[in-house]
Amino acid sequence: MKKTNTINSKIGEIKLEYNYDSMHIFNEIKLIDVSNNQEIGYINFKFYNEPYKYVWLNKIEVYKNYQSMGFGKFLLKCFEKFCIKNKYYNIEGKYYPENEFAKPLYIKNGYKIIKEYYETLLVKTLDKNNKINSGVIEK
Ligand SMILES: CC(C)(COP(=O)(O)OP(=O)(O)OC[C@H]1O[C@@H](n2cnc3c(N)ncnc32)[C@H](O)[C@@H]1OP(=O)(O)O)[C@@H](O)C(=O)NCCC(=O)NCCS
Repeated sequence: MKKTNTINSKIGEIKLEYNYDSMHIFNEIKLIDVSNNQEIGYINFKFYNEPYKYVWLNKIEVYKNYQSMGFGKFLLKCFEKFCIKNKYYNIEGKYYPENEFAKPLYIKNGYKIIKEYYETLLVKTLDKNNKINSGVIEK
């Protein structure tokens, strides 16, 4: 299933594309620059119900030309809003230490490191009553 939404950003119009299947097994939020139809970045994740309800944040990526403009933060906020809407409040995920901007992105957005190994494990508990403002890149 695909749902799209167009919003106004610092760089002009961008399209937010939600791709998910009916069982919410695979989910992806993609950002597209409307001016040239180029992909800005994406975040992908999976909902799990066993052994408890949680969301696995698999990967977030913003392509080189669009980095450091707030799109990573924006994608994370869109993702968190989507989780709350679907009543999933526990996020778990990972990143590899060589991804130098991943750590500040996650830490500044309230993620806690629970294990540092060849990959770093992260968690965040969302507040179901907290209205997340994802308008960070909007004009
Ligand atoms: C990590 C990544 C998604 C960040 O995306 P982004 O759109 O550039 O990030 P934002 O512009 O939203 O910035 C978020 C925070 O990241 C950090 N950051 C981003 N670019 C940075 C830079 N050039 N120098 C230092 N810190 C930087 C800052 O702490 C920033 O917060 P601030 O603006 O409040 O200071 C992007 O760098 C990327 O895709 N990297 C390669 C893949 C990867 O590492 N993925 C994460 C693990 S799965």
